[in-house]
Amino acid sequence: IDMADVDLIKSRLTSHPDFPKKGIVFLDIFPILREPLVFETLITHLAQHITSHTLGISQTKKIDVIVALDARGFLLGPIVALRLGAAFVPVRKAGKLPGQCISASYEKEYGTDSFEMQADAIKPGQNVVVIDDLLATGNLVPHEKLTATDSSKGGSAHAAGELVAKQGGKTLEYIFIIELLFLKGSSKLDAPVYSVIQTD
Ligand code: PRP
Ligand code: ADE
Repeated sequence: IDMADVDLIKSRLTSHPDFPKKGIVFLDIFPILREPLVFETLITHLAQHITSHTLGISQTKKIDVIVALDARGFLLGPIVALRLGAAFVPVRKAGKLPGQCISASYEKEYGTDSFEMQADAIKPGQNVVVIDDLLATGNLVPHEKLTATDSSKGGSAHAAGELVAKQGGKTLEYIFIIELLFLKGSSKLDAPVYSVIQTD
């Protein structure tokens, strides 16, 4: 890992206490995207991680598909997919995608929501990397409710992994800009997690 890259990206991250509701510290990635050089550094960092590390551990030749999550994952996924010569497949909030879809539910702060993927988007045996901006789990969990996060249902990345698995795809890795370590989201996923920045 190039720590200068990580430090540059990290330095542009801003935190907003009590947004969008009380008790949540919202981490904003948009200042990274405002600066072309920093955005470029981030994308190159992610693409290089995949070609050197993700493909290395799996002993496979190619990433076939980059899956990214509605909405902030869409800012990263297509660009990384183009760099790798991989297909881009979106996971969208339910009711947005046309044609036959498969769905998976995920946990939000109160109750559950559901994600969809087009049914013919991934072929059995394809190598997939799932990308999103942030791994929490249990959507926007306030700090005072942290003990309630140990439920069986995962957050949005977990649901995306379920959709990949349902189509017979093989998720090699889950990649995020930020991982909220205290929520232990990675423990619920079926493949390794790589995050550029980790926070407690
Ligand atoms: C945020 C974030 C991740 C997800 C992480 O998206 O962009 O996708 O929450 O939380 P989790 O690990 O608990 O699921 P959000 O649902 O706020 O939607 P947005 O991308 O449309 O803003
Ligand atoms: N999605 C879930 N939790 C978040 C947080 N703390 N900041 C930004 N996006 C989030």
